[in-house]
Amino acid sequence: MAHSSRHASNWGWRRYWRENRLAACVPENPDSAAAIETYWSRIFAQFPAGNRVLDIATGNGVLLVWGARTARAAGRELTLTGIDLADIDPARFLPEHRADLAAVRFIGKTAAESLPFADGSFDAVVSQYGLEYADLEPALSEAARVLAPSGRLHWLAHGAGSIVVAQARAKLVDIALLLSSKGPFAAMRAYVKARVRKRKVSRATRELTEALRRAESHCAAKPPATLVHQLCGGILETANQFERYRPADVDDWLNENLKRLRGERQRVRDLLSACLSRRRLARVEQTLRAEPWSGAEFSSFDVGATGDSVGQLIQAVRL
Ligand SMILES: C[S@@+](CC[C@H](N)C(=O)[O-])C[C@H]1O[C@@H](n2cnc3c(N)ncnc32)[C@H](O)[C@@H]1O
Repeated sequence: MAHSSRHASNWGWRRYWRENRLAACVPENPDSAAAIETYWSRIFAQFPAGNRVLDIATGNGVLLVWGARTARAAGRELTLTGIDLADIDPARFLPEHRADLAAVRFIGKTAAESLPFADGSFDAVVSQYGLEYADLEPALSEAARVLAPSGRLHWLAHGAGSIVVAQARAKLVDIALLLSSKGPFAAMRAYVKARVRKRKVSRATRELTEALRRAESHCAAKPPATLVHQLCGGILETANQFERYRPADVDDWLNENLKRLRGERQRVRDLLSACLSRRRLARVEQTLRAEPWSGAEFSSFDVGATGDSVGQLIQAVRL
């Protein structure tokens, strides 16, 4: 791959999109998640029949699912295309959305920085928590190239003050606790070993109890700590009923979850480095306030009574 070192860290997404998820980076608060869907449905409702829409860094195509539904409800047809650097195949891995996804063209293993489309192929480019994962200058230049004159860019990006980013930071702390050398996973592994060998069982039990106690205090101090809750609940239940399990199955469960956690940690790190810091946002502003762009608008997407930001809204028209 010719572009940045960012691409080297994309490995986790392929697996992520194969686990029956429609979207990534969904805010924990359901009202915020619903506000995002409403926003995009309104954007798609504005597109005239026959418009060609490209979703950059589409993942499992959540925007295009909403787009297909909105168009269908309005009795309109849109030509929907999604690209992603990951090797995606949403119709295969999201059977419940097959009807909405059937009409969408997905192209995986495709970088935003070098799009396989002719100049002026689209009337709109959309992206949710996507374009900012790519190298900004080449990706925006490609977005401009594939847009037809008067085509629009609609982009919801991770922004510095966003609750999605705050959630990601909290998740990183949760994962660090789970993966630490004296954390619940290491302690459970030692416990399994001790039980199998029937040696130093009381010490392993004590260390596991302490690790789970620390995890419990963490959950109380930093709610919701969902991952810690769920995984430590599983560990505690397994340790309490150890005789019911085969030790090899417990090891498999631990290894599978460790792999999952490491993938999650990588994705969260990607998110934090993709986030539009003030400096990166200034670069985007500079690019979109110059030709071939015009009418660039920037605003924080604030939701709910508390006005939490779920990201940075960016719109521009291609001249
Ligand atoms: C946070 S996910 C967002 C996916 C989707 N838009 C959504 O809202 O659910 C970020 C996506 O960007 C993709 N990605 C990362 N770097 C990319 C690049 N350079 N070009 C295209 N896609 C990229 C990842 O594979 C991942 O699917």
